[in-house]
Amino acid sequence: MAAAALRQAADLQLEMTQEPHKKPDPSQPLLFGKTFTDHMLMVEWSQEKGWGQPRIQPFQNLTLHPACSALHYSLQLFEGMKAFKGGDQRVRLFRPWLNMERMLRSALRLCLPSFDKIELLECIRRLVEVDQDWVPGNVGTSLYVRPVLIGNEPSLGVGHPTRALLFVILSPVGAYFPGDALKPVSLLADPSFIRAWVGGVGDYKLGGNYGPTVLVQQEAQKKGCEQVLWLYGPDHELTEVGTMNIFVFWTYEDGALELVTPPLDGIILPGVVRQSLLDLARTWGEFRVVERKITMKEFLRALEDSRVREVFGSGTACQVCPVHQILYQGKHFHIPTMENGPQLVLRFHKELKAIQYGSKAHEWMLPV
Ligand SMILES: Cc1ncc(COP(=O)(O)O)c(C=O)c1O
Repeated sequence: MAAAALRQAADLQLEMTQEPHKKPDPSQPLLFGKTFTDHMLMVEWSQEKGWGQPRIQPFQNLTLHPACSALHYSLQLFEGMKAFKGGDQRVRLFRPWLNMERMLRSALRLCLPSFDKIELLECIRRLVEVDQDWVPGNVGTSLYVRPVLIGNEPSLGVGHPTRALLFVILSPVGAYFPGDALKPVSLLADPSFIRAWVGGVGDYKLGGNYGPTVLVQQEAQKKGCEQVLWLYGPDHELTEVGTMNIFVFWTYEDGALELVTPPLDGIILPGVVRQSLLDLARTWGEFRVVERKITMKEFLRALEDSRVREVFGSGTACQVCPVHQILYQGKHFHIPTMENGPQLVLRFHKELKAIQYGSKAHEWMLPV
């Protein structure tokens, strides 16, 4: 593959829309991913010429060859991150450097072109700056940033693409928990559905990992559950929750109070919020923080011994989301997360909010 850095952000072309859209009414709830801003970033790549000049252009449809390799063979990857408007009206991106790293890993795994993470981030920063009036200002709201890289080979051969498109779209989103009341979710844990496996690509953010989960999510809903708890292996390891990483706050078998999440062993998406919760908890130094496998057997034993305090998911959409019930092998297990505060979930929620909305200056935030 031709090594190709994304061309300098300094070359960025800007074409402003002549038909700006009406911004959403702040008094109405914003549904996730349904509203888009006026502009998008677009960069083309070809093996021959490398990266073209990055462009901020009016939001528009793509024109693709019907043989486009992204459509046939899922040569597609994406990222998801958020920009927040602080009380000072300044817009800041949350740890975007980690998303750039994850995106580059995904690109290399799919034989899509390499790029300069810093240059791409600068292009994204400029795009958010251009559309900064679209960043909602109410508590809990944000601007969701969706970078995408697709193979754009106009050929049916399965092979590394000689053409690619990188684009970034922006979507204002409402508060996941309106009014800050954390609503717990129930999970279906059915080991017959497997999200990711060792040697596979579950630890990369590829579109192909997500389409097949829709049916499983529907299965969960049919059984009265809100999300899926993905299990893995003969020990039914707890791996992820829907599109979130999973955390358990409990007293471990050795009597120590600990926060545990599965390790990044190839089947876990390296979540940015996951990393942030681990970083925060390690800074506090108040309990043990470990990355270790959690099996259903040891989890149920801890539940029976009343050692489980809180179970929650973490991800860009919700930040943290409590879990109060698991349906496993035909039995509903109640998790006392809400009865326990949930103290840790609320603390993480508050701490992240303070950092993201800028009431606390923090190196994790990139001012736009
Ligand atoms: C499968 C999966 N796990 C975990 C996460 C959480 O990652 P992040 O914290 O970067 O949003 C996501 C969401 O992006 C995901 O799709």
